[in-house]
Amino acid sequence: MNINNNGLPTIEKAEELLREAELQNIGQWGNHSRNVAFCASKIAEACGMNKEKAYILGLLHDIGRKFGIKHLGHVYDGYKYMLSLGYTQVAKICLTHSFCNQDLSEYIGSFDITPDEQKELEIALDVAVYDDYDRLIQLCDALGAANGIVEIEERMKDVKARYGTYPQKKWDKNIKLKEYFEKLCKHNIYDIIRKWTLQIEVYSYVGRIKWKLLF
Ligand SMILES: [Fe+2]
Repeated sequence: MNINNNGLPTIEKAEELLREAELQNIGQWGNHSRNVAFCASKIAEACGMNKEKAYILGLLHDIGRKFGIKHLGHVYDGYKYMLSLGYTQVAKICLTHSFCNQDLSEYIGSFDITPDEQKELEIALDVAVYDDYDRLIQLCDALGAANGIVEIEERMKDVKARYGTYPQKKWDKNIKLKEYFEKLCKHNIYDIIRKWTLQIEVYSYVGRIKWKLLF
């Protein structure tokens, strides 16, 4: 499947970009991205969406972490990096994945970018038109931890514990996103991914090279 001309890398290229990025900033974010990608592909498939596209977007949604340990900075860096490579669909996901209410002020973490960069993000976020892929990656970002898949409430509680806050509006929207996709695919989201959870945990231990076998 060649989707290079549509603002998306191939799956192989996306995996290469993630591997490269992890070498620059070693951490658990790579496996988190793989879990997000995996959930996204499975839910997309159940909903009649493009599962390859969902997988690629999930894999690269946090690619801005390549440039170091940052908070809002990872959104900006990922957005600019993907634009620079012509991967406009990924750039949009890098921008939208942290803002389920399309509101930059809801960001949980430091605003560690310059005022000009913040303005740039605000404008880009304002004009973005969310589609089901934006919504899917937002949901899956809340499902995919570094070492497996968790219930979204559990992950939101964990974020709240780590940052000391979690906006209620954002919490409620994540629950609504789950309901939205459950309505779309007429299945419980956890049932869709539960059958894969054991394998995901096993493969996380075995090594990321095996991830391809699961897709
Ligand atoms: Fe993420």
